[in-house]
Amino acid sequence: MSDKATLTYNNQSIDLPVITGTENESAIDIAALRSAANLVTIDPGYKNTGSCKSAITFLDGDLGILRYRGYAIEELAEKASFLEVAYLLIFGELPTADQLMKFEMDIKANSVVDEDVKKIIDAFPKAAHPMGVLASLTSALTAFNPSSVNVDSEEDMYKAIVKIMGKFPVLVAWTMRKSQGLPIDYGSKYLDYVENIIKMMFSHPNETFVVNKSVKSALNKLLILHADHEQNCSTSTVRIVGSSHAGLFASLSAGISALWGPLHGGANQAVLEMLEAIREDGGDTAKFMLKAKDKNDPFRLMGFGHRVYKNFDPRARIIKKAADEVLEELGVDDPVLDIAKSLEKEALSDAYFVDRKLYPNVDFYSGIIYRSLGIPVQMFTVMFALGRLPGWIAQWREMRQGKEPIGRPRQIYTGATIRSYVDISKR
Ligand code: ACO
Repeated sequence: MSDKATLTYNNQSIDLPVITGTENESAIDIAALRSAANLVTIDPGYKNTGSCKSAITFLDGDLGILRYRGYAIEELAEKASFLEVAYLLIFGELPTADQLMKFEMDIKANSVVDEDVKKIIDAFPKAAHPMGVLASLTSALTAFNPSSVNVDSEEDMYKAIVKIMGKFPVLVAWTMRKSQGLPIDYGSKYLDYVENIIKMMFSHPNETFVVNKSVKSALNKLLILHADHEQNCSTSTVRIVGSSHAGLFASLSAGISALWGPLHGGANQAVLEMLEAIREDGGDTAKFMLKAKDKNDPFRLMGFGHRVYKNFDPRARIIKKAADEVLEELGVDDPVLDIAKSLEKEALSDAYFVDRKLYPNVDFYSGIIYRSLGIPVQMFTVMFALGRLPGWIAQWREMRQGKEPIGRPRQIYTGATIRSYVDISKR
């Protein structure tokens, strides 16, 4: 394979280096193109643009492969704990038992949130969208933990990481309890990371809390499946905000905002709302299939299609199985699930969806599990953010320690050419 590509433009030949990754993906390095030929490249939505080199996550959208640091997602979802996966993503290797114990202890030691943060929560109306609340609270943490991270110090970096890993689930749980009018639960240091999340979210003030094993297993899987997905919209946002040397918490807050949209993390909420709407409309899935295919109708089948997976989403396979298991174990008989199954069946054999390679994505099933666990629909994307936290941290750390330059894309200007100011009385 050649290590250079030659571009011919205006009778000039320009050699551009080709770089190849460890999984043999190749890219033309166009950094010198502007100085050599006064050209930039244009690629709206970055559909074919690599923004960085990264050693964290590998995915192959055609083959349906997803690996964290070389480990297959199927194996991690089956065997690992979420905290082990978080450690793997952030620090590059699976932890030893001692490393994992220390990581867990340090996170627990940092899981107290300043009481003044509650005043901020109280200031939000109860009906505020939890993603807006979570983004604000994550940003607010900067005020309570003002020291900026010295990215050249592993110790400083580690301290910032355990701080946010400890406090973030508390913010998530408080956000949900606020929307439900429930008092805050401070968790327990005797529970592990996932158990503690469950307690902080679901405990009732007048009941002894016992963690349900099926709930724990399903949540552990969901968090692992969402933990990283290379350079998607929210992760790229975290990296680009961090590239200006904005702090970790500020960069994460921006990532949360990016995740909120219905074309990204907000799709899990949109899926459930769509399934509910179909049920309320009488359950005629064929009617909604027609709407999704009608180019004059803005309706899209939420939970179908993916920017990079054009064959199948490997996370969707794992999560579909987990959804079946958890619904059976919890004894949930959900009519919305029947609608989901019909839609899936119809779409998988419909030429429109097959030709465009539109398959169910991870969000098609995750909402069904969250619903069976009793998590309110508006909280679904917050749960996604909880899982994605270690991925965002890992990507931020890689970007800062790799001394990447500030993110600053180019454009092709298409507006008016120079013209003279016209006085307001003459317009
Ligand atoms: N329903 C109906 N038609 C669709 C859908 C859908 N869900 N998704 C794509 N299409 C059609 C488009 O209209 C387009 O048709 P055309 O070629 O006739 O114009 C074609 O398929 C390609 O669509 P694009 O939008 O160009 O695909 P892209 O890769 O840019 O977008 C996206 C991917 C945003 C995920 C899209 O499939 C979508 O909107 N899906 C629904 C939202 C969703 O589930 N998002 C979650 C993504 S997963 C995640 O973030 C974890």
